[in-house]
Amino acid sequence: METVLTRDTERAAAFIKLGGVVAFPTETVYGLGANVFDAAAVAKIFEAKQRPADNPLIAHISAIDQLQLLTTEVPQYARQFMDAFFPGPLTLVLPKSKAIPLIATAGLETIGVRMPRFEIAREFVAACGVPIVAPSANLSGRPSPTTWQAVYEDLNERIDCILKGEPTEIGLESTVVDCSGEAPVLLRTGAISLEDLRNVAPETRPYETPDLETPKSPGLKHVHYSPSAKVVVADDIAATHDLSEAAYIGLTEPANPFEFTRLCSTVDEYAHSLFEFFRECDRRGIETIYCEAVDETGIGAALMDRIRRAAAK
Ligand code: TXA
Ligand code: MG
Repeated sequence: METVLTRDTERAAAFIKLGGVVAFPTETVYGLGANVFDAAAVAKIFEAKQRPADNPLIAHISAIDQLQLLTTEVPQYARQFMDAFFPGPLTLVLPKSKAIPLIATAGLETIGVRMPRFEIAREFVAACGVPIVAPSANLSGRPSPTTWQAVYEDLNERIDCILKGEPTEIGLESTVVDCSGEAPVLLRTGAISLEDLRNVAPETRPYETPDLETPKSPGLKHVHYSPSAKVVVADDIAATHDLSEAAYIGLTEPANPFEFTRLCSTVDEYAHSLFEFFRECDRRGIETIYCEAVDETGIGAALMDRIRRAAAK
């Protein structure tokens, strides 16, 4: 199928109304969307991405009144998270309404809900007239796309349309919090940190996987965010020596030259650049990528989480 490229949200939304799948920009990463209530359309997302069927999707809303279409109960602390962080890079996992087909939630009785901060994303969802389920718009296992060109690289001719927008702002996926129990549980870190969540709900705790076979967030067990190159966490840049076909990304200038280097001036810039850097390394045939370790506070925690996952491949 030919993939249509457009900057027109109405034109992109028309494909959703016909049961198609459309990639669109958000402030975190690009998503690959379908009508949450259309099981056949949702199936196309899994097919296009080659995503394992046991990995549930996040529903994107354009306005808070769409929440009632998706969920049955919203605990008080989840309301407080919405007041503090919607629209923004936060996904709340809530009990799902009956109308949502189980394919969207990978058989779970809960659904992740997020209201993106990028205006173009909300405009697109509003034009669709329904909440839009969307995973990141990459082929399964590859780094999440932060530009429309990265989406094109992975999914051209596999999806109906790409809504072209600016590069994403944050560059790492949203924070995911389980809000289906008595107290909130952080399932995936993102730009909204554990400290940020605890400022709103002090009882928020990080998730500890008791058993890798049955993690609460099924996505956590799948290989993620990986370039083809080998990723190495570099705690001590001075100790890494010159290697051909090696690349480096970090805040500190390395003592020895690498074949390809990306120096970032802030942790935000590092987070914003990581996935595109991984992709560029693959395009250049780089074999090893050294990533400088950073302090795990604020977005640094999410950045180190993504780097470690890529290194664990
Ligand atoms: O920033 C983002 O979250 C991007 C943009 C497009 O919104 N989306 C994204 O989706 O990263 P995806 O599918 O790549 O990651 C969704 C994560 C997975 O780890 C998945 O397992 C978890 O959220 N998740 C989704 N629904 C869940 C549920 N009902 N219960 C537990 N975890 C869930
Ligand atoms: Mg993903």
